Amino acid sequence: MFTEARRYFVERRVTDRIAETGATSFMNYFARLRSDLDGEVEKFINAFTVNETYFYREDYQLTCLTSDLLNERTRMKRPGEALRIWSIPCSTGEEPYSIAIWLLENWPQVDAHDVEIIGSDIDTNVLKEARTGIFGKRALMRLTPKLIDKYFVGAEPGRWQILDDLRQSVRFTAVNIVERSETRPLGAFDVIFCRNMLIYFDDSSRRVAAENLYENLSPGGYLCLGHTESMSRISPLFEVCRFPDAIVYRRPLEISHG
Ligand SMILES: C[S@@+](CC[C@H](N)C(=O)[O-])C[C@H]1O[C@@H](n2cnc3c(N)ncnc32)[C@H](O)[C@@H]1O
Repeated sequence: MFTEARRYFVERRVTDRIAETGATSFMNYFARLRSDLDGEVEKFINAFTVNETYFYREDYQLTCLTSDLLNERTRMKRPGEALRIWSIPCSTGEEPYSIAIWLLENWPQVDAHDVEIIGSDIDTNVLKEARTGIFGKRALMRLTPKLIDKYFVGAEPGRWQILDDLRQSVRFTAVNIVERSETRPLGAFDVIFCRNMLIYFDDSSRRVAAENLYENLSPGGYLCLGHTESMSRISPLFEVCRFPDAIVYRRPLEISHG
């Protein structure tokens, strides 16, 4: 059952889509949706997402990334093997770009490793914005002027574009976290940031998401959730790891029997 606030949210979005498409009634809109007329399924999904994000959000986890997680993961790598980091959901890109900037600023080993950063989201509109990499003041509010000067160029009044090198260093792809056929092809990651999405899911979608996240982690790989989210209540698949700066989850190392 929907709460009153949730019902209002859903009604508002459906009403907006009906107005936008020019449908004459709910049934008429529903028929368009079922037949995916003019790509309505994608537009419908995009209308329901909550895309709030900003640079250096919950940065205690970024501290943990460079103080603990990456150093341990690099010890487990074969020479030349890339470190893989996945930001899902990445919304308009602030999270994966924050990771890239944070590594350049705070991880002395950054030049010694090949680091692959991928950003994914279900919402194709936010992915377009992420690829463009233009941000307003609010998105940048937690970055110092020095960092803004170093990694952005002025794009238009009150908006800044992230440098081309950084923009090209992050790959963005559309993925629905609860669709295994979409998550599986991305392969195994060393660290996954999955922050501020599971709070919007029901229990069964959370469980499916947890199974997919588990599958997309290398054994011993780490999962960082938002500060209000906890994997312990969703799935027993992960170990809890308490580091000085953050509590994160880990896919246990595989134990060989024999
Ligand atoms: C509040 S933003 C979080 C962004 C970023 N991780 C952060 O913490 O700042 C939530 C994002 O989850 C995305 N999302 C919702 N359901 C999803 C799904 N099933 N698969 C992938 N992304 C999804 C939304 O499109 C939205 O951009």
